[in-house]
Amino acid sequence: MSATQTPTPDTPLVQSPAWAALARHRQALDGVHMRDLFAADPERFDKYSLKLGTLLLDYSKNRLTDETLPLLLDFARARDLEGWRDRMFAGAAINLTEGRAVLHTALRQPKGATVLVDGRNVVPDVHAVLDRMGAFATAVRDGVWRGWTGQPITDIVNIGIGGSDLGPVMVTQALTPYHHPHLQAHFVSNVDGTHIAEVLKKVDAETTLFIIASKTFTTQETLANAHTARDWLLAQGAPADAVAKHFVAVSTNAKEVAAFGIDTDNMFGFWDWVGGRYSLWSAIGLPILLMIGPDRFAELLAGAHAMDEHFRTAPLDANMPVLMGLIGLWYVNFWDAQSYAVLPYDQYLARLPAYLQQADMESNGKGVDRDGRPVDYATGPVLFGEPGTNGQHAFYQLIHQGTPLIPADFLAPIETHNPVGRHHTLLLANFLAQTEALLLGKTEDEARAELAAQGLDGEELEALVPHKVFTGNRPTNTLLFQKLDPHTLGTLIALYEHKIFVQGILWNLNSFDQWGVELGKQLAKAILPELEGGSRRGHDCSTAGLIRLVRDGLR
Ligand code: F6P
Repeated sequence: MSATQTPTPDTPLVQSPAWAALARHRQALDGVHMRDLFAADPERFDKYSLKLGTLLLDYSKNRLTDETLPLLLDFARARDLEGWRDRMFAGAAINLTEGRAVLHTALRQPKGATVLVDGRNVVPDVHAVLDRMGAFATAVRDGVWRGWTGQPITDIVNIGIGGSDLGPVMVTQALTPYHHPHLQAHFVSNVDGTHIAEVLKKVDAETTLFIIASKTFTTQETLANAHTARDWLLAQGAPADAVAKHFVAVSTNAKEVAAFGIDTDNMFGFWDWVGGRYSLWSAIGLPILLMIGPDRFAELLAGAHAMDEHFRTAPLDANMPVLMGLIGLWYVNFWDAQSYAVLPYDQYLARLPAYLQQADMESNGKGVDRDGRPVDYATGPVLFGEPGTNGQHAFYQLIHQGTPLIPADFLAPIETHNPVGRHHTLLLANFLAQTEALLLGKTEDEARAELAAQGLDGEELEALVPHKVFTGNRPTNTLLFQKLDPHTLGTLIALYEHKIFVQGILWNLNSFDQWGVELGKQLAKAILPELEGGSRRGHDCSTAGLIRLVRDGLR
């Protein structure tokens, strides 16, 4: 069978003809340097870049020849990527282990669209919640919703963790220029009491609104923080009925919300077909909406919808999430890349890498395939990153000259919200220089000439040469956009969501469960009573020894 013939989708991955063809092609690329690929093809930038609205993806600085993408696309077709994509958009229960649809895309559908889940159009439900959120946010923003002493709200404290925290934190920070001038947002996630204690020091009970955000409303950290916040409010002199004015909930679990003592009239719901790490578009986005207002939140959703439509309809070879997913897989499976950097050259995107860590690693950090068979190929890489230029002075050394291959995405806006002196030009010069340096590197001859120009020669010069050489040929994607506005941010986030989906499908994973986080939670519940004086249970001797020390102290 030739590599371009389609095997049945359940052919073991590494035995499929398309995989074998990629493996052969990878071997043929030994010794090929991207420097030479660029020298041979002045059209490479035009050929390997793609624009959607005001977002450009330049993927030319990758280890790709004209043969590579057709082979990767054959592989995608052989794994029925288009079929899986269509099933996701159509509301099929592709989250097999939980029997759920995966429909965060329905959350950004315009009014009037139809998305059926079990025969019911969910789009009107989505917009009913959005309208309630909008009305509530407007009341808070206009000072109509007031605290128990009649004062308008000045501070919003979102209490949630994981997907009920990272998306709202990241987007709220990214859209700082659009914030309401008289509102401050705070986020409490960690069960470490320091987190809530430090936030509570900054706010006034009379003017603070708490959002308790938890899909399940059973998450230990969130409930502990929520109880502490309520106790604090009452300890500040608020009467018991003040809770209704100062606490709202975002959840799929009305029963537990009521059990906590929040009036379900003050609850904003969502649905089990929204995964936690894909939920910022739902009521989980309430803190974002409060800070930027309903119109800007609608722009965020519209930006994501534009990417959804692109992903759903563009041919695979001109489809941004597909190309980014395939290129990422190319490095993980055929070049042994075990990590991957996301490097935003925009201080407002400081939390994007942390957000994407959950989105990517909780989705594709899996060791068995959809059928429960252990995989015999690498899956999700370790994702990390920091804003440029800070990262340049920290971990970029490893990316430039270290032994691991670390593919990286570089992101930057052409226009800044803060045109301060030459800062933005300096930032962009660094942004452009990094991907050029990673591509080209510096040869021995170039290093030698540079050292000679500095006046060195002989043994001294030769001893330094190997340290000054950069191999180059290190792959990057560039995501360049006009300005970090709500629409662009929505488009960018949806791009990464779909890229993660593409990789999950190609690795034959269920990207939408997260059983791997459960064992630690179970054991923490078992250890808690032991730390509170209860009898000790059987543990390995390390854990038992540590429990003893935590109880008895080290002094
Ligand atoms: O860490 C596991 C997890 O289930 C995440 O997937 C989720 O985003 C987070 O916990 C918070 O869950 P919840 O919103 O139910 O409190």
